[in-house]
Amino acid sequence: MAPDPSRIAVLLSGRGSNFEAIADAVSSGAIPRSEIVAVLSDVEDAIGLRKARRRGLNAHAVDRRRFSRRADHERAVLDVLGAARPDLICLAGYMRVLSPEFVAAYPGKILNIHPSLLPKFPGLHPQRQALEAGAIESGCTVHIVDERVDAGPIVVQRRVPILPGDTEESLSERILEEEHRAYPEAIRKVLGL
Ligand code: GRF
Repeated sequence: MAPDPSRIAVLLSGRGSNFEAIADAVSSGAIPRSEIVAVLSDVEDAIGLRKARRRGLNAHAVDRRRFSRRADHERAVLDVLGAARPDLICLAGYMRVLSPEFVAAYPGKILNIHPSLLPKFPGLHPQRQALEAGAIESGCTVHIVDERVDAGPIVVQRRVPILPGDTEESLSERILEEEHRAYPEAIRKVLGL
């Protein structure tokens, strides 16, 4: 008997282009034997959430502004995830730092994507940081989430050159194209597909 498909959940806060790359890879079979069981956002009107609904996916808003305490918000997110029973949780532009308790609920099963070659340029505005440091290349990293920020075991990195005249915007675009390749590759790797 064929094994059950791997259950993927995606957490996002905004545009959702990485979510779309993952969803395309699932529907084309580039990520085989898998399904997206939940798309969840901490921002009620996130564009990515609308994209998920248009695809007919199970999309949830757990709006951060409705909760006065971070722990309560996280509990609500964990409740939605618990019902979806994911094998893997992909943070795709999810703009909240997960608490150690959240990470402990899914040890080794949460991935994040960051637009730099970690450990270089963690935190906010990594593309700007790379330009300001005079780096000649940058890229993106998909890593397993642990209790630290933008750290944890690296699964996939893809590199891009930094070109003369690059702006934060042009570099971000070049990196984003690689992000869309890196995330499906990383998911295949961690799911052993
Ligand atoms: C990406 O650059 C990702 O690396 C970072 O946030 C951005 C999200 O973009 N964590 P999108 O919402 O997937 O289009």
